[in-house]
Amino acid sequence: MPSTPNTMERENFATKFGVLVAMAGSAIGLGNLWRFPYLVGSYGGAAFIFVYIICVFVLCLPILFSEVIVGRRSHANAFGAFKKLAPGSRWKWLGALSVLTPLIIVSYYSVVGGWGVEYFFKSVTFEFTDGMTQSQLGTLFSSFTSSVWAPLMGHTIFLLMTALIVISGVKSGIEKFGKVMMPMLFVLIVIIAVRAVTLPGAAEGLAYLFKPDFSKIDASVCSAALGQAFFSLSLGMGTMLTYGSYVSKKENIAASSSYTAISDTIFALLASCAIMPAVFAFGLDPEEGPSLVFETLPFIFSNMSLGAFVAILFFLALIVAALTSSISLYEVVVAYLVEEKHYTRKGAAILVFVVAWVLGILCSLSFGPLSEFRIFGQTVFNLFDKLSANFLMPLGGLLIVIFVGWVMKKSDVIDEFTNGGSLKANVRVSGFVYFLIRYICPLAVLAVFLTALIF
Ligand code: PFF
Repeated sequence: MPSTPNTMERENFATKFGVLVAMAGSAIGLGNLWRFPYLVGSYGGAAFIFVYIICVFVLCLPILFSEVIVGRRSHANAFGAFKKLAPGSRWKWLGALSVLTPLIIVSYYSVVGGWGVEYFFKSVTFEFTDGMTQSQLGTLFSSFTSSVWAPLMGHTIFLLMTALIVISGVKSGIEKFGKVMMPMLFVLIVIIAVRAVTLPGAAEGLAYLFKPDFSKIDASVCSAALGQAFFSLSLGMGTMLTYGSYVSKKENIAASSSYTAISDTIFALLASCAIMPAVFAFGLDPEEGPSLVFETLPFIFSNMSLGAFVAILFFLALIVAALTSSISLYEVVVAYLVEEKHYTRKGAAILVFVVAWVLGILCSLSFGPLSEFRIFGQTVFNLFDKLSANFLMPLGGLLIVIFVGWVMKKSDVIDEFTNGGSLKANVRVSGFVYFLIRYICPLAVLAVFLTALIF
């Protein structure tokens, strides 16, 4: 098992801040702005948040460590990493899973990113300013998503932007974009949250978010929270592993991973503060589901003072957050094609574009002409979403902690986690972290996973 990087010319992130913005950029995305708030609404508010936070810090953070450890140790793409660390074994199939899943996610992710592009244009042209009713906005959204060309246009623009950033490279594309965009994203969400919590009647929304009713916690809440934590931290599918492979040997990977989990959680809470208080202030239903951001919010924007500007900021934030995540998905497949199949970076990016574009077209049309086309009773879009968040990602995460906890040598894992013993704080917690990775995470993920399958 090689314990030192290979000699192939590979890019690294240039700075500590670059590592953080890239990892946090992957984590913070549509999951925080679109998925988290509607799950909070659907699963009863603060109780869901409480379970979610436990999932993030007790179960998912060690999994994040594990992915980054495998990436930096192997200094290879998601497929090559397992070939290198466990040569000749079946673990390469985990590598294959880690390359295929991002391709599935990026295709439907780009469709929702494309909706963001369309709604950004709508907000810049002040379409949400004239006191429209909620049913008008509902009709606007469903007629938009069920049409053929407009959503495809959004999907194409979004995927093209992703491809262009990835083609520019790890340092001058991904890292540079993140360094400018991530701080801006936080500023935007804080402005929007401040506007929302100062609306008259916002307090009820805040109570909904922060006063848990523990009787609401059941198996379905736990499984939804864990699925969301996986999705939000970009786990179980080679993304953090690939980014980990671009982290230099002197960086503290435990610190970068912990900051990533903390900033991702803060952002999800800020996004909820930007949305729920406004939903309550307008007496709307928090259990709206996936259409929350594209129906309920535009209604609020069109009826609140300064709403037209807040709408522009919100959809801009949504596009930026989605882009920094989709580039991380895209990069997993590009790194694989470049290193394992010897494509040029540009050639790989074009191939990924074509495949993700075609899959994305199927997802997009599944809201319109293909809505009756079902696989296992699901539309293509729902199948991709459920399959990845509730099945492939937890499965990938489970296998990776088993790999790090049971297949890699303990001394190698601790060596990577502590930078050869030189990071004293990491040395102090390494035994506990290793225990979580080896015993607690696999058992807990398996338990939640099976419960979700059974119930
Ligand atoms: N973490 C991203 C979000 O919350 O939107 C989604 C995501 C990105 C999932 C990258 C998986 C991934 F590999």
